[in-house]
Amino acid sequence: MLRRPRRNRKSEVIRELVVETQLMKSDLIFPLFMVEGNSIQQEITSMPGIFRFSVDKLMDEIHECLQLGIKTFCLFPAFDDKYKDKYASISHHPDNFYLKAIARIKKELPEACVMTDVAMDPYSSDGHDGIVENGKILNDETLEVLGKMSLAQAQAGADIIGPSDMMDGRVEYIRELLDDHGFIDVSIMSYTAKYASAFYGPFRDALDSAPKSGDKKTYQMNPANIKEALIEAEMDELEGADILMVKPALSYLDVVSELSRASNLPIAAYNVSGEYAMLKAAGEKGWIDGEKAMLEVLLSIKRAGAKIILTYFAKEYAKLNV
Ligand code: PBG
Repeated sequence: MLRRPRRNRKSEVIRELVVETQLMKSDLIFPLFMVEGNSIQQEITSMPGIFRFSVDKLMDEIHECLQLGIKTFCLFPAFDDKYKDKYASISHHPDNFYLKAIARIKKELPEACVMTDVAMDPYSSDGHDGIVENGKILNDETLEVLGKMSLAQAQAGADIIGPSDMMDGRVEYIRELLDDHGFIDVSIMSYTAKYASAFYGPFRDALDSAPKSGDKKTYQMNPANIKEALIEAEMDELEGADILMVKPALSYLDVVSELSRASNLPIAAYNVSGEYAMLKAAGEKGWIDGEKAMLEVLLSIKRAGAKIILTYFAKEYAKLNV
């Protein structure tokens, strides 16, 4: 035998020398959920270890994460039903607690990099990412709402805007609006290939944002398709996106890999709530080693081609100090 691949696995040192993929804390973005109020920290039943925070508690959490080396946070607001309407008006209203929290974080913890979510669902009485009219989601009318929301978030101090709505043309619409208002330095991480997935369940519990009727299949992508992801990627690039995201991550590693070959932009993958819940549940039951499985999952997402990983494991990973 001339070739013995096992020689490169013979010791820890050799294995480290030949390692092809290394995960770093700086690859990770930590999604955080927020509620209005004070001194609130409610654990999400289907996401052990993940909480809804009021702004005061959120500041503590972000501070702690910064110390651990996690520097980018993707914030999602849970709004009470009383604020929700057909046009998601509260999303760009100055009284909105989410916008106020962003401003406070950027003022008191300026080293925190803040990513915001742009979609109507947390603010919409219909629970959809766009305006619903006679059971249909209106694309072009929705862009106006998304634009106002993005602008309000940029004004509050967001570093990265994350349109997660999957309306056509929204990246260009948002980019132009931001530029027209002088926000040329605000980045856009587009949810480029966001699939209509069963893995968002725990997130919708966290925000109470599930659609009141129908599903999201007329805007989120069919899990059967990958060429379509390339079309979305091509459009988002032309429309001025800075980073392209694939979501969910684990059932779509082929999409991550394909996009990382097709585009020169950095690729991100969202290790979503259902993926987190699965691992946590099996780990709690003792059916898998939760910590090892987490490391393997995060590594696999990076190996597939994602430079950036949005994951609810970010803090736990950082605490391990591996
Ligand atoms: C909403 C949005 C969703 C997620 C991020 N932004 C849910 C959805 O589209 O229904 C899911 C994140 C997760 O499951 O962790 N636009």
